[in-house]
Amino acid sequence: MELNINGKAVQTDADPSMPLLWVLRDTLNMTGTKFGCGVAACGSCTVRIDGEAVRSCVMPVAALAGKKIQTIEALGTPDKPHALQAAWIAEQVPQCGYCQSGMLMAAAALLERKLKPTDADIDEAMTNICRCGTYQRVRAAIHRAAGNTQGAQA
Ligand code: FES
Ligand code: FES
Repeated sequence: MELNINGKAVQTDADPSMPLLWVLRDTLNMTGTKFGCGVAACGSCTVRIDGEAVRSCVMPVAALAGKKIQTIEALGTPDKPHALQAAWIAEQVPQCGYCQSGMLMAAAALLERKLKPTDADIDEAMTNICRCGTYQRVRAAIHRAAGNTQGAQA
């Protein structure tokens, strides 16, 4: 079948029931998307499908024909980082870094839906797990990328 990944048509002969995460990592060598739990609980495997944040470890490729898949590899570049990536650096968000590509993809989906998210919006959208506890910095970086001058709200 054909997948649309980061704006390019990609052919795959993967089993249709194979979750997208394995197709990305094991067959396409796109390892920016991480495996954490494998049961849609942690969010480290988050990609965007037609703009929405989706946990790729439980998304069979058969369900993705005709849909636009975006992975962390296409969020920005070192020369031209996404506003979230620039904010992530400014706020020094990552610790070990393992969960961060999933965090960024979830945040990108949030900002596209909501230009100026509140803390409540962020809490609702950002259900990813970070073992290093970067949640407060994630929140600050999302506010920074959104240009929220009021910063974190109570
Ligand atoms: S690896 Fe997909 S949610 Fe944890
Ligand atoms: S930065 Fe280490 S798990 Fe989130």
